[in-house]
Amino acid sequence: MPWRDAILSRALPHPILSFMLSTKITDSNAHGQDSSYFLGWQEYEKNPYHPIGNPDGIIQMGLAENQLSFNLLESWIKNNPSATVFKKNDESLFKEIALFQDYHGLPSFKNALVKFMSDIRGSTVTFDPKNLVLTAGATSASETLVFCVANPGDAFLIPTPYYPGFDRDLKWRTGAEIVPIHCSSANGFRITRSAIEDAYQEAQKKDLKVKGIFVTNPSNPLGTSLTNHELDLLFNFISTKNIHLISDEVYSGTVFSSPNFISVMEVLKNKNLINTEVSKRVHIIYSLSKDLGLPGFRVGAIYSGNDDVVAAATKMSSFGLISSQTQYLLSEMLSDRKFTKLYLSENSRRLKHRQETLVKGLEKVGIRCLKGNAGLFCLVDMRHLLKSQTFQGELELWEKIVYDVRLNISPGSSCHCSEPGWFRVCFANMSEETLILAMQRVKSFVNSIMSKKNNRNRHQQILHNSARRTKSLPKWVFSLSLNQIEVGEKR
Ligand SMILES: Cc1ncc(COP(=O)(O)O)c(C=O)c1O
Repeated sequence: MPWRDAILSRALPHPILSFMLSTKITDSNAHGQDSSYFLGWQEYEKNPYHPIGNPDGIIQMGLAENQLSFNLLESWIKNNPSATVFKKNDESLFKEIALFQDYHGLPSFKNALVKFMSDIRGSTVTFDPKNLVLTAGATSASETLVFCVANPGDAFLIPTPYYPGFDRDLKWRTGAEIVPIHCSSANGFRITRSAIEDAYQEAQKKDLKVKGIFVTNPSNPLGTSLTNHELDLLFNFISTKNIHLISDEVYSGTVFSSPNFISVMEVLKNKNLINTEVSKRVHIIYSLSKDLGLPGFRVGAIYSGNDDVVAAATKMSSFGLISSQTQYLLSEMLSDRKFTKLYLSENSRRLKHRQETLVKGLEKVGIRCLKGNAGLFCLVDMRHLLKSQTFQGELELWEKIVYDVRLNISPGSSCHCSEPGWFRVCFANMSEETLILAMQRVKSFVNSIMSKKNNRNRHQQILHNSARRTKSLPKWVFSLSLNQIEVGEKR
């Protein structure tokens, strides 16, 4: 099987290479590249769908990218040409932008970014640019923050299922560990007090010092935002244990229906915790990759109420600064509040429509999605399509979906889901026509599985009935009926 070959070939580094390179590279598998999440992307790259060039190719549904409102960005660029040619009032800013940049970032960009973050939260809270550290995307923000907060071997508790990239971002170079908070489909994968306690005890059993809880709100891959109750649990826990809470809020601007998204900043405010000891242990990860659909620009940020963390992370940001060119362009775009407000509302309207198209389309073929209100994906329940209710069964189904149905979706196991049969399906990185084609493919696949299942059931039923008849009827009836068959056959 191709994915197994890929896993095996990567598990064994070339002996000469491993001799020449750092053991941090050769011995560590913490990058997570062997996960089916990344293998699916590789398979897609080999045979990508194109409506004209390759209509039978693999459709990429494993990429949480937002292309739905891209035309709004394009028209803004078209209407504001001075932002891309670095001119203000007809004067060139090229030299100013191209020369030295210190690691604090452009003040105009930081000001515009904190306002945008506040707008996303309905202006219920404000953010101080002094507490903001710019990074090359949320990937870099997470690693930097974990580096600042944890020593190698310290652990973060993370609710499952979680974004597969965290294994790379949190563990690979920092040496930190992740201990899962196992959430279950029985309550829609909500965080419970006992699940947090269990994870904490699990870490202690492993002799790991728990440094904090790391959540994604709204969640990737659940597509749901944390409830007030869950946030209360988290705040109570980090307060009593004196640990950190990191909230990855990169999907905060993708919320398209109720309940509303509640940021940890709002919780701090509502609980009168701003500028307290607790607020020094609460940090936000942010990025424009999802909310503005600009993952290629590599724009992320850490927001923290802890001056030491801000100072250390600012120094570390030298390793992954955002170019001044990008900062300048985005400071112009985000300062246009009329545009950003329109973008946010139109984007959430389009996301809602797209998510509903997927949910309803899947429902028609008997596939349910976890009820979501945010994000660029749905968590889809395919437990009834598994041959066996195991992770092996899940990978077998996934393999069929990638190679036969030609859709790259992400198995729940790649997101550390504790139950087999759930898959993350992305809906915002393609055209509506492509999504409809993907659902047609799913429909024929499900129909073929179901008709095979029905045939098998019918066959078993026939065997069962004839066995029952054989058992319950007197012997003479059975021999008579056999004789009749023989007679019939002779005719
Ligand atoms: C929850 C979460 N955090 C962080 C990232 C990485 O974002 P960025 O492109 O800004 O590095 C992703 C990307 O999929 C994500 O889903």
